[in-house]
Amino acid sequence: MTALTLSTAGAATLRADALVVGVAKGAKGLVVAPGAEAVDKAFDGKLAAVLETLGASGAEGEAVKVPAPSGLKTPLVLAVGLGAEPEGDAGYDAEALRRAAGTAARALFGQKKAAFALPIEATEDAEAIAEGALLGAYAFTAYQDAKKDAKGPLAEVALLGAKPRDKAFKASVERSLALTEEINRARDLVNTPPNELTPEAFAAVASAAAKEHGLKVQVLDEKALAKGGYGGILGVGAGSANPPRLVKISYTHSKNAKHLAFVGKGITYDSGGISLKPAGHNETMKCDMAGAAAVFAAVVAAARIGLEVNVTGWLALAENMPSGSATRPGDVLRMLSGKTVEVLNTDAEGRLVLADALWKASEEKPDAIVDVATLTGAMVLALGNRTFGIMSNDDAFRTAIHEIADEAGEQSWPMPLPSDLRKGMDSPTADIANMGERMGGGLVAGLFLKEFVGEGITWAHLDIAGPAFHEGAPYGYTPKGGTGSSVRTLVKLAERTASGDLG
Ligand code: BES
Ligand code: MN
Ligand code: ZN
Repeated sequence: MTALTLSTAGAATLRADALVVGVAKGAKGLVVAPGAEAVDKAFDGKLAAVLETLGASGAEGEAVKVPAPSGLKTPLVLAVGLGAEPEGDAGYDAEALRRAAGTAARALFGQKKAAFALPIEATEDAEAIAEGALLGAYAFTAYQDAKKDAKGPLAEVALLGAKPRDKAFKASVERSLALTEEINRARDLVNTPPNELTPEAFAAVASAAAKEHGLKVQVLDEKALAKGGYGGILGVGAGSANPPRLVKISYTHSKNAKHLAFVGKGITYDSGGISLKPAGHNETMKCDMAGAAAVFAAVVAAARIGLEVNVTGWLALAENMPSGSATRPGDVLRMLSGKTVEVLNTDAEGRLVLADALWKASEEKPDAIVDVATLTGAMVLALGNRTFGIMSNDDAFRTAIHEIADEAGEQSWPMPLPSDLRKGMDSPTADIANMGERMGGGLVAGLFLKEFVGEGITWAHLDIAGPAFHEGAPYGYTPKGGTGSSVRTLVKLAERTASGDLG
């Protein structure tokens, strides 16, 4: 884990292995961003010129290394691109800072301590830089003995220009540390191979974390699920040698605080079941528990930050496998809500486990429910690999989540729940089928979930199938593999709810 410190030392006097500065595209060429004045001075005011000679343009994602001149206490200066220089009085965009800090942290793998001299005008800037650096300094090497000790991530990030004795800055830094540690924990869970991370193993991780952070946890095993009538979760888990679990993890701040329920899809492996996925669609399906990982991380982060809100996380954990005991296309499941579902396609399993968890979460009458799920390939086709879809039974709530995600630096987009798509799920045998029209498949899934939300409860559904797992080259603070998508949005939503901004 990377340590985070605030430093009053100037950029020229702090001892570190590398000094990070920001550069941007100005109207007349490369400019060095504020915060690095002392560094520029050590270069006789020619830092921008030196970097331009090395090919730097200030573009986002760029990282250029220069040996430090005498006068600095670090051997290396790393310049990272911030994109266009803001015009007039505007400061640098928080997400540009977050990404640049992440790019820097990735470029400094193998180094111990880096000092970040990026522009900080307010606590939000310090927060963004801290988040980017700590999320960029992530590696998953649990299964690579040779790589474990080699070039690991930065051991220490020192933020220059943040005021260490200022209460607000201190709180920001503590928030960033808790938040990023939990996001990285969610990434670890997603990256852990499915032969290791079974529903039972996931539940054990949640129980251990709950104990560590003083949260209440309750695990329903397959027997308890059968007794309770959780037909959806049991139906999905029926084919697997690794039985399903429903985990409830609760952070209670106080009796009178608002209550949020987060519900996560936790399919530890999605083979498709009897409706087996074809080759090429199976290889990354360990990521199908990313929703549950995000929910788990968000609840723990809310507790660690000490938010004045009560948050209950529901992790619907099952493995979707084909076998002689698996649910067949054509089977009818009786769900926890009492509704019957005809399973037409066993690969549409996420909505089945979520239906039970949503219904259970509704029983407590929370002020709002948000579910998070890698639910449909259709949402990836619609929005691409970096943007999650938001659906809701309340337009204002959907808009609020979209804006909150934006502020948190997560790309999202509001999607509708058109009622005309409901009839496609009519079943001749049961109350509803688990599949409908192919067109608009992400919205069809959302409409299915809506039927299992308790009457009168505000609810939103985040389909993170695109951004949950990153298969391309790392960029900014986003690594290959699990990304921790939606954790920042959920935590910010909890913060807004705590401060009463959400009504
Ligand atoms: N877990 C998948 C969705 C998914 C696709 C997640 C790509 C991440 C990346 C989900 O369970 C699924 O298989 N959905 C089907 C639904 C269909 C059978 C109605 C899909 O999207 O094809
Ligand atoms: Mn599936
Ligand atoms: Zn799935």
